[in-house]
Amino acid sequence: MTTVQALERTAHLHERVRHFIPAVEWPVFAEDIDAILALKRQRRAVILAHNYQTPEIYHCVADLVGDSLALARLAVETEAEVIVLAGVHFMAETAKLLNPQKTVLIPDLKAGCSLAESITADDVRGLRRRHPGVPIVTYVNTSAAVKAESDICCTSGNARKVVEALGVPRVIMLPDEYLARNIAAETDVEIITWNGRCEVHERFTAGDVRELRAAHPGVVVLAHPECPPDVVTEADFSGSTAAMSDYVGTRKPKSVALLTECSMSDNIAVSNPEVDFVRPCNLCPHMKRITLKNIRQALEENRHEVTIDPLIAGRARLAVERMLAI
Ligand code: 13P
Ligand code: SF4
Repeated sequence: MTTVQALERTAHLHERVRHFIPAVEWPVFAEDIDAILALKRQRRAVILAHNYQTPEIYHCVADLVGDSLALARLAVETEAEVIVLAGVHFMAETAKLLNPQKTVLIPDLKAGCSLAESITADDVRGLRRRHPGVPIVTYVNTSAAVKAESDICCTSGNARKVVEALGVPRVIMLPDEYLARNIAAETDVEIITWNGRCEVHERFTAGDVRELRAAHPGVVVLAHPECPPDVVTEADFSGSTAAMSDYVGTRKPKSVALLTECSMSDNIAVSNPEVDFVRPCNLCPHMKRITLKNIRQALEENRHEVTIDPLIAGRARLAVERMLAI
């Protein structure tokens, strides 16, 4: 049962999300939020939350929020003893790679990613044999075992910079075919791709963009670079989740459509009340496995602790650190 004290202590947090969570429903959230805030203090824990987390996580219990690149950087900087990663498994693995001495928890072990599932370490070794001497740039949306077989990692926020920093005419970029093709369109570096797809972004079509423009004249369309290349071509801007958020925050378009995961619009709408968000979004079922309940359970029961085989971790860490050094 929700106590009066929990309601009082969380009232200021409800203010932030009142457009998504009506007052009558708040007691359901307040008890868990209040417990999580107390557990974080007891355990010297921080919650790192990806931009696709639901508003009650993103705005009410997260300490640090951002895209994959920001979460990796923030994981290095934190002085907390425990990191709870409110996001998907590869993000928690990256945080652990960068903080081998810390406890890193993922509230649901099944919070995966279709891109991470699309390629194995064996596949990467095969690519290296087929293209000897060509550097392998690996999207962070992969397992530590895949990262360990790579030369350097990238995120959607720095992919072009990483590819060009290598100073070579040709790279392999895996596993996201669409991200690789979208970057190839922006650079002179030749890119060999793999056939992985994000199950959320691959569903957007160029026809969706045209329909949106017809239905909402003047709408500014932002697309994540995991979308198919013809969608990115039709859009007004393409960038990581952080870049999309910055675009809205600085340019304040009258009306905007974010071709990405649904919670993005909800989260940035809070600080951009004057912007009208048109919502042709798709849900990521993996991101949505993370809830207040399992975050609370993670802190109460120390689960699920992320561990990485030390033989893999050393090489995978190098690939991530090379990226962060750029
Ligand atoms: P960002 O790095 O842009 O946040 O993307 C992560 C992701 O999983 C997008 O689907
Ligand atoms: Fe993976 Fe796509 Fe979900 Fe991002 S949105 S975690 S790339 S499945």
